[in-house]
Amino acid sequence: MSGILAGKIALVTGGSTGIGRATSIVLAQEGATVVIADLQDEEGANTVGMVEEVGGKAEYHHIDVTDFAQVKSLVDDIADRHGSLDGAFNNAGIEGPTAKIENVSIEDWERVIGVNLTGVFNCMKCEIEQMIKQDTGGSIVGTSSAAGLVGIPGAPSYNASKHGVVGLTKTIALEYGSRNIRVNAVCPGFIETPMLDRVTDASAKIRDQLIKMVPMRRVADPSEIGHAVAWLLSDKSSYVTGVALPVDGGWVAQ
Ligand SMILES: NC(=O)c1ccc[n+]([C@@H]2O[C@H](COP(=O)([O-])OP(=O)(O)OC[C@H]3O[C@@H](n4cnc5c(N)ncnc54)[C@H](O)[C@@H]3O)[C@@H](O)[C@H]2O)c1
Repeated sequence: MSGILAGKIALVTGGSTGIGRATSIVLAQEGATVVIADLQDEEGANTVGMVEEVGGKAEYHHIDVTDFAQVKSLVDDIADRHGSLDGAFNNAGIEGPTAKIENVSIEDWERVIGVNLTGVFNCMKCEIEQMIKQDTGGSIVGTSSAAGLVGIPGAPSYNASKHGVVGLTKTIALEYGSRNIRVNAVCPGFIETPMLDRVTDASAKIRDQLIKMVPMRRVADPSEIGHAVAWLLSDKSSYVTGVALPVDGGWVAQ
């Protein structure tokens, strides 16, 4: 397919549902071959089907991003079979408990940091190693959150993990800018996904309260994150690196 990502190979973690699914579809529509890594096999196969329905190319792999060896073997496999890894969207994530720190267990903390921050570290490390080996540059995007830019009471593990993604993004961008490997993050606000349903208990009342906090007075369709990611993965953003881009209807501008 033609588009701003024509001919590129892109890895998407957490691509079975939500933002990862919608982004996989957008990336494929823009011409990328999409490699999806997730734990939800049936939903992953459904995403592949949706990509194929729009005329794109995708494949699914059962990978736990918290397991470095699994991530490494997937990145090696992509390089072997496709010849290169041009872009990556490190998006897999989980919500933490809604609780103040006094009620957050060490186990909850480690689980959220493990997926949302160590998972992104594992992916970035393997992707950077591969991109250095190729010596053709590359673009990496992580999913942080508006909660990675401002504090939000009641979600200390999640907020810390998402601030961590921003710190990692800026640091790795500085380390590899001279090799033309760009590293950026998107910081979504409230996006229509299964995670938002879980966090709001699918309650219309809670959703309305959230919407009132957003200057644009609506939640986003996940494809609106996908379009920002496609731009960041493409050569259209060739001088953009180290950025944490809010895609939040103006929420953190307040
Ligand atoms: N929905 C929102 O409003 C919102 C806002 C800000 C940031 N985010 C972030 O966006 C990202 C995607 O979230 P979403 O809303 O699409 O939620 P989602 O639950 O629909 O998608 C998350 C995906 O990540 C996968 N995943 C979880 N743990 C994994 C692991 N260890 N290894 C591999 N895959 C794993 C899940 O199976 C799922 O498919 C997350 O990082 C989330 O924190 C979401």
